[in-house]
Amino acid sequence: MPQDQQPEEEQHDVLPDGDRDPGQGPDRGAQVGQHVQQHRRSPVRQPVCDGPTTAAADSREPTRGAADAAAAMAAVPRSGFLPRSQRRYAALDLALPIGARQTCSQPSTVRTMLDQLAVRPGHHVLDVGAGSGWTTALLAWLVGPGGTVLGVELEPSLARWGGRHVDAAGMPWARVEQAVAGVLGWPDEAPYDRILVSAEADTVPPELERQLAGGGVMVLPVGGHLLRVRAGEPGVPREVVRLGPYLFVPLR
Ligand SMILES: C[S@@+](CC[C@H](N)C(=O)[O-])C[C@H]1O[C@@H](n2cnc3c(N)ncnc32)[C@H](O)[C@@H]1O
Repeated sequence: MPQDQQPEEEQHDVLPDGDRDPGQGPDRGAQVGQHVQQHRRSPVRQPVCDGPTTAAADSREPTRGAADAAAAMAAVPRSGFLPRSQRRYAALDLALPIGARQTCSQPSTVRTMLDQLAVRPGHHVLDVGAGSGWTTALLAWLVGPGGTVLGVELEPSLARWGGRHVDAAGMPWARVEQAVAGVLGWPDEAPYDRILVSAEADTVPPELERQLAGGGVMVLPVGGHLLRVRAGEPGVPREVVRLGPYLFVPLR
């Protein structure tokens, strides 16, 4: 059966070619296991997808959002958002393949992004690049039933698969929509208090910044760096803070 006719659980249970280590055999778990061993053996932190590219990026002081981020990650385990073949690696601090040449981001990177986003109960949040649905569900836990989270995902099969994970998480104030080609974000439901972007842009996209409420915060990777952008509001200028070097899949 051609791959585009496979049931989605199976489609997203394969390692995309782009994530395959050259020269490895057919055991997909062994491929990831080998990558993990290489990562552990190396005295220098390896650049990995959706992760920091230097050890220094991990050494920043956490903000007061850190405890909330850690609590969300404990309440919404990553394993429920991974392909079957990857679930045994859920606890490892690595980006893991989810099919369609995309990844579920490295947990320490997700923690940093949520920490810096400082999501509060009741917030209206946009999650660009929902992928597996994990970040959408983490954000849903943080905003609580008084808030809303909209995840948008460009890959149609991931949007359906990740959307099912979010539906199964039992937080009906969150959902995933397939991104509309040529439209960045989801302008129809703007403005958002918070925007999380899990794919790397060349510059801060003005279309996304226009969807941010006054004083709202967006965390996104741009040109190899994770940035926190706080929108200006009356009497307070726009602020952009560099959080450290990170490598992500591209925003398309
Ligand atoms: C790092 S991956 C997914 C991480 C995801 N937050 C998770 O928890 O699994 C980034 C995702 O961004 C998606 N993406 C890239 N460009 C996009 C765009 N313009 N709009 C929506 N999604 C996009 C990719 O298809 C990919 O699934």
